[in-house]
Amino acid sequence: MIEIFSPAELERATESGAFIASVLQGIKKRVKVGTNLLEIDSWAGEMIKAAGARSCYIDYAPSFGSGPFGHFICTSVNDAVLHGLPHDYSLRNGDLLTLDFAASLNGIVTDAAISFTVGTSSSPSDAKMIKATRQALDAGIAAANPGARIGDISHAIGTVLTAAGYSVNLEFGGHGVGSSMHQDPHIANIGRPGRGYKLRPGLLLAIEPWVMADTDKLVTDADGWTLRSATGARTAHSEHTIAITEDGPRILTL
Ligand code: MF3
Ligand code: CO
Repeated sequence: MIEIFSPAELERATESGAFIASVLQGIKKRVKVGTNLLEIDSWAGEMIKAAGARSCYIDYAPSFGSGPFGHFICTSVNDAVLHGLPHDYSLRNGDLLTLDFAASLNGIVTDAAISFTVGTSSSPSDAKMIKATRQALDAGIAAANPGARIGDISHAIGTVLTAAGYSVNLEFGGHGVGSSMHQDPHIANIGRPGRGYKLRPGLLLAIEPWVMADTDKLVTDADGWTLRSATGARTAHSEHTIAITEDGPRILTL
């Protein structure tokens, strides 16, 4: 299903996006060496409650996971890249953490992810990888103008990621959001310009480039949820939800 939102509904989506951004930035500020992933999950749960929002994850039971997710936020560390299930692990100096968070506020879902290094030691290759996903996200957003097509976004993302030396996995990518988290259209992280669904004002899209340092193959962790790089290589992910407007793309989760 593809949903199109009115300008009044876009104002509500703006509030939802600001909430998602405040949760991610608030957690990023609080995370230190020694923070446990389960603590991060409980902070996210408290913030959802305080805002009167609704979790998109807690009951979520898609075909690509095993049973309901049962937590409020995805916490993916080092070789984990997507759907990291919070568990009893205390972060160490130099760990590469990805937080991916979506929730519904005012009945509208927005979705965003950030990757960052914990503590003081950050490797140049991690920094390069994080930067590549951010630049790919910026390029994808810049291509999201009314009248352009999904393939233009995919092409812009894929061009940045491949130029930076990464190979792109096609199993998971961006997606429409709205009254639920995963909607059409799908947005692959590589693609051909001029192809696919034509963008129009009122469409909400979660755009999410992610890479693994030396592979495009994923393996599923024994927890049934966490997706890791098949080689054990480290990973990065950047995601924003945007609205297509008459004036171009507007980032909601900034
Ligand atoms: N928010 C993620 C995305 O970017 C999906 C998380 S699915 C979950 O699409 F089940 F792990 F929560
Ligand atoms: Co998403």
